[in-house]
Amino acid sequence: MKECVLVTGGAGYIGTHTTVELIEAGYDVVVVDNLSNSELAAVEGVRKITGAEIPFEQADCTDKEAMSRIFDRYKFNSIIHFAASKAVGESVQKPLLYYRNNLDSLLTILELMRDKGVRNIVFSSSCTVYGQPKVLPVTEQTPRQPATSPYGNTKQICEDIIRDTVSAHNEMYGIALRYFNPIGAHPSALIGELPKGVPGNLVPFITQTAAGIRECLSIFGDDYDTPDGSAVRDYIDVVDLARAHVVAVGRMIQGKSRSNYEFFNVGTGQGRSVLELVAAFEKATGVKVPHKIVGRRAGDIEKIWADTSFANQELGWKATRSIEDTLASAWAWEKHLRNIK
Ligand code: UD1
Repeated sequence: MKECVLVTGGAGYIGTHTTVELIEAGYDVVVVDNLSNSELAAVEGVRKITGAEIPFEQADCTDKEAMSRIFDRYKFNSIIHFAASKAVGESVQKPLLYYRNNLDSLLTILELMRDKGVRNIVFSSSCTVYGQPKVLPVTEQTPRQPATSPYGNTKQICEDIIRDTVSAHNEMYGIALRYFNPIGAHPSALIGELPKGVPGNLVPFITQTAAGIRECLSIFGDDYDTPDGSAVRDYIDVVDLARAHVVAVGRMIQGKSRSNYEFFNVGTGQGRSVLELVAAFEKATGVKVPHKIVGRRAGDIEKIWADTSFANQELGWKATRSIEDTLASAWAWEKHLRNIK
C-alpha cells in the first residue's frame, strides 16, 4: 500500500511544489489549506501536472475539531507542516496574529499526532533562525540568534516545540528544514509563487517588473560589505527544495533518522547578491529589468548562505537546478499568469 502524507498549507507556493514531488515519488497526498493566502486553482495546477486525484480539505490548522476529522478520515503517518503566516514586516505590525496562527496550528497538529498515533513531522523552518551569522557559510552548528521579528521568533519557538515533543514521545520523529531563499517555479509553469498585492520578495518583484506591472525594481542598499555592495542570499530552486521534503519524509519512514529531532540547512551553498540575481535574470530571459538603488530595507541582514554539506551527506540530497533555469522558470510562470507570449 502507498504511504500517505498530509500536507498542511498544500495550496501554497512550497506546498504545491512539494505535493507534486511527493506524488511523483509514489506517495499519496492529502492537502489541507485554509486558502487565506492561496488559491484553490493552485491545487488544480498540481492535479494537472501529476494527473492524480488529490483530496483537498479546506480547513484551518488551528481548528482542532476540523483537523481531528481529517486525521480520522485519512490514514497517514507523516505530515509536512507548511501552513503558517510568513510576511516578516506584517509580523512586526501584528505580532499576536503571527504567534496565535503559527504556534496554535503547530500545537494542534502535534496534539493530534500524539493522540492519534501519527509519527512523523517535517517542519518548514527558515535560515532566519541564524540572524546575521558571524561566520559564513552557516552550518547546522552555527548558533541560532535572537529573532529580529515575530515571524522569525515563531520559527525558533516552533522548532523548540517539535524538539521537546518528539523527545518526550519517543515514537515521534521531527525534521526541521531551514530554507534559505526559495525562488522559481515548476518547469511546467502550471504552479508557482502567487504573491498578493505588491510583492515583498525579490524574485516576484523582478518578474512583475519584467512583465511591466511594476515600473522599476528598488534595490535595497548598495553599501553593504559585499563584493558589489548589495545584500547576499542563497537562492534555492523551489523544486529542489520540494525534493528535500520528500527525502526528509522518506528518512523518517525508513527509520534512518539519527535522533528523534533533526534539522538541516536547505540551500545551494552559493551566495548571490541582489545585483547578480538581476543580471542572471536578464541573461536567462533576455528581458531587461529597470532598477534603481534605494536605501536599505529595515530589518534586512547583510549576507547569508548555507553550508549544505551536512544535508548533502546525511540526506543524500543536493540542489541541482542552475540559477538561470530557476530564474527562467520564474519568468515562464509570470508569463503564464499574465498571458504573455
Ligand atoms: C526573508 C527571511 C526569510 C523569510 C522571507 C519571507 C532572512 C534572512 N530571510 O527573506 O526567512 O522566509 O523573508 O518573506 O531573514 N530586495 C530588494 N528589492 C526588493 C525585494 C527584495 O532589493 O524589492 C532584496 C532584499 O533586501 C534582500 C533580497 O532582495 O537582500 C531578498 O529579499 P527577500 O526576497 O524579501 O527575502 P529575505 O528578506 O532574504
